[in-house]
Amino acid sequence: MAASYVDSTTFYNHSRFLLLLYLFKETEQHFFSEKKLEDRVTMADNPSKSISQNTNTHRVILFPLPFQGHMNPMIQLANILHSRGFTISILYHQYNSPDPSKYPHFSFHLIPGGLSEDQLDKDEPLSAILLINTDCIKPTRDCLGKLLSTHNDTACIIMDANLFSSQAVVEGLGIPRLVLRTSSVCSFLAFATLPVLRENGFYSDDLDSRGEDPVLELPPLRVKDVQAIHVRSLDFTLKIISNIVEGTKTASGLIFNTIQDLEEPYLANFHEPFRVPTFLIGPFHKFFSAASSSLLTQDRSSVSWLDIQKPGSVLYVSFGSAATIDGESLREMTRGLASSMQPFLWVVRPGLVQGSEWLESLPNEFMEVVSQRGYIVKWAPQQEVLSHPAVGGFWTHSGWNSILESICEGVPMICSSFFGDQKVNSRYVTDAWKLGIKLEHVFKREEIESAIRKIMLDKEGQEIRERALCWKEKIDVSLKTDGSSSQSLNALSDLISSFKSSGA
Ligand code: UDX
Repeated sequence: MAASYVDSTTFYNHSRFLLLLYLFKETEQHFFSEKKLEDRVTMADNPSKSISQNTNTHRVILFPLPFQGHMNPMIQLANILHSRGFTISILYHQYNSPDPSKYPHFSFHLIPGGLSEDQLDKDEPLSAILLINTDCIKPTRDCLGKLLSTHNDTACIIMDANLFSSQAVVEGLGIPRLVLRTSSVCSFLAFATLPVLRENGFYSDDLDSRGEDPVLELPPLRVKDVQAIHVRSLDFTLKIISNIVEGTKTASGLIFNTIQDLEEPYLANFHEPFRVPTFLIGPFHKFFSAASSSLLTQDRSSVSWLDIQKPGSVLYVSFGSAATIDGESLREMTRGLASSMQPFLWVVRPGLVQGSEWLESLPNEFMEVVSQRGYIVKWAPQQEVLSHPAVGGFWTHSGWNSILESICEGVPMICSSFFGDQKVNSRYVTDAWKLGIKLEHVFKREEIESAIRKIMLDKEGQEIRERALCWKEKIDVSLKTDGSSSQSLNALSDLISSFKSSGA
């Protein structure tokens, strides 16, 4: 099979029909005017406010993958649907569990015998996904079955795309299943195209020297970007990805935390293999902040520190919830940050540095630099940090949530990458959207210093900043009443309501 796809509109017919339906419906729907948007952000802290707006009694069960980058968007989606009147139930594992006390407006259902901390292999990042999709199937089936038998108002279940084994469970229970894919459309397309790329020789040994070659099927990706997707063995990665992709194709709907404008050039290719109704309703955090679903405590002193810095002067550095670096990379980072002479706010997550608890491997002389113009925390309120006027750049690991949060605030990025979708994400940021520059991981002090100065001080950084601000405006437009994300959300709400009315 060649990886050249034809444009297809079949995919959208369903959504368009729902959209038309929507336009004829009463006007008291929950429009996302800027005022309403403000209300919604406030609702995150005051759920009772949204309860009073509820008009819809259908229940939606949401089932997140227990990792920060997946938990945040799922809980945000739950809040968004709740604000649309749906009753929300969250199914969860003991491992990385959400805190039910923060969401009195949801009901929570622990899977007895589900994934717990002591089952995990800390050195194997995929072990949790594997266990959830093998050992945890029976407990999931039992728990879900019980939940459905006691809640006959359930319209559908929305599950993380990585919970592929539970798809059969849900289908066996005769309830519509929607999938939340927490990445971008374009990176998911890259994942879905891996088998084709393998057939086309993209993983043969002699490709090492061709890392910079373009992948003609997926511009602007290079060979090394798609090669970086696989962890462990290629066969293993392809098996997992094929399960995810096939499970997504048979879902009743597919939800992305992204916006139409960003993905437009890739949608036609995407719609050909994925002929299910698709809803691009991001950025979720513009409806509801992710602060409440943070698995680590967010250190708010970082915001107080930013308050006393000059506008646009601070580089924010964070590599998300799962990436790790070795001691040598850490040393190069400290040297690069020191010689750049720029103020910085650095999230050194416990466990970020392999073999270290926290800061003990930082050189003493660097702590002096920190005391002069840096600030280090274990975990920050990232969305608030990125929207702070003092922040002028973001050195990121290129996780999708981080990228989206940065684009929303018009902050230019330095993109490193570690595993999974991150290298692909960073390619789109730098080469397609031109919102950042690349900094390859293996870190070198000179390259770090040069990248920081480029993004914070040079003309190139200024140009990126101007482009980033244009994207920020486009995102704001997509959230207005007639914007693409709002309309897509309307269509999603209608689809979910239709399940129950049609007795699906
Ligand atoms: C993982 C993968 O790494 C990522 O590539 C994939 O797209 C999603 O799953 P993670 O590494 O955690 O996610 O990165 P990211 O997607 O950026 O999500 C991190 C989340 O944690 C963001 O919502 C961010 O706001 C939040 N965060 C991060 C904090 O709240 N505080 C911090 O200090 C750092």
